Amino acid sequence: MAASCPEWLATHLQQAGGGVPFSRFMDLALNEPEHGYYGAGRARIGPEGDFVTSPSLGSDFAALLVPQLMAWLASLSTTDPVQRLSIVEIGPGEGHLARDLMTQLGEADPALLTRLEMVLVEANPGMRQRQQLLLEQVDGLPVRWCTLEQLRITPVRGVVIAHELLDALPVERLVWRDGSLQQALVELDPNAALRMSHRPLSVGLRDEINRVCGHAGIQLPPPHAEEGWTTEWNSSLPDWFAAMAAAVEAGVLLVIDYAMEAHRYYTAQRSEGTLMAVSSQQAGLSPLDQPGAQDLTAHLCIDVVDEAAKRHGWVVGDQAKQGEALLALGLAQRLHGLQQLPGQQLAEALQRREALLRLVDPAGLGGFRWLTYRRGLPEDGFSLSGAQGCSESRRD
Ligand SMILES: C[S@@+](CC[C@H](N)C(=O)[O-])C[C@H]1O[C@@H](n2cnc3c(N)ncnc32)[C@H](O)[C@@H]1O
Repeated sequence: MAASCPEWLATHLQQAGGGVPFSRFMDLALNEPEHGYYGAGRARIGPEGDFVTSPSLGSDFAALLVPQLMAWLASLSTTDPVQRLSIVEIGPGEGHLARDLMTQLGEADPALLTRLEMVLVEANPGMRQRQQLLLEQVDGLPVRWCTLEQLRITPVRGVVIAHELLDALPVERLVWRDGSLQQALVELDPNAALRMSHRPLSVGLRDEINRVCGHAGIQLPPPHAEEGWTTEWNSSLPDWFAAMAAAVEAGVLLVIDYAMEAHRYYTAQRSEGTLMAVSSQQAGLSPLDQPGAQDLTAHLCIDVVDEAAKRHGWVVGDQAKQGEALLALGLAQRLHGLQQLPGQQLAEALQRREALLRLVDPAGLGGFRWLTYRRGLPEDGFSLSGAQGCSESRRD
């Protein structure tokens, strides 16, 4: 279906010869510096905004995460007792998690605190400005913003958090047509409106898909996929993990996101893929509508993420569902503690109770995956609370 195309995007499409791969369209719609949803700083995250994320529901999420981060940092400090340690957040959005971690960490082990800094990596200038405004009010830890390029020159030791970042990286849309997998394009129709079309996979993309599917044992398309079956392929992951490997000398990477295994991601029944357009707390809008004014996001396939991580020198570690991780980190005790709050804080207690329950709701945020990877570190001392252990297929 055709959707109207803003002038700024039409200019990009015309310069590209009239059409671009879906991944390029998604990149422009989200990250174009003047008009993109994140690029222009237009994104609004939280209950009053376009969508909620766990940190946007209140500071309890960060408070629960702190003991896990401190356990990893303590293990890291034993591998080198003098060097500076960093908590790096990639894609901090509004800056909620960074703000709450900085505040909550104030009560942590003072010996560790003196060696600790907060590093924020934000690709979009519009979002960076908003984070800077929020965090200039907060004391606690030294904080700096830098690019992955700068971290490549001076790599850090520490913990890296990518919370709902990888689901915002541009994906390719793949469509099963006439007995072959094709790549979706976004192009201008004769009325200068946006529409989707398809072309055979580029050689590079075809080879990449074949290579990863071969390693991870994924069958694409899956058995019984019907004509028009559509899915996503996250072609940004290998470069991202390579850049992260160059940025981190030794550390744990915690990815928190919508994610599922290949046998659930690539099924004939999931015939529309996982791509979602989101605005004003509503999902399921058309991805071509209002470029730059709505969020676009696609779930992660865990096997594909693991493959990209391993290929770039990361060791696959534990994983857990968010609900299990947060319960192991003391969410139930925190809920119980709310009952002790004085009566005049009833409204706050109820609001925090609702937020805590949302964080573990298995049909919502509780079903998010916490995936860990590490590099430059021994195996011991870097387990994840609430993990079921790491399956053999993830480790291979
Ligand atoms: C979905 S928001 C998540 C925000 C926040 N982590 C949260 O959960 O509330 C994605 C964030 O990642 C940023 N971003 C997108 N691509 C990025 C990249 N390649 N590197 C760093 N940040 C990026 C966006 O500007 C935005 O701040």
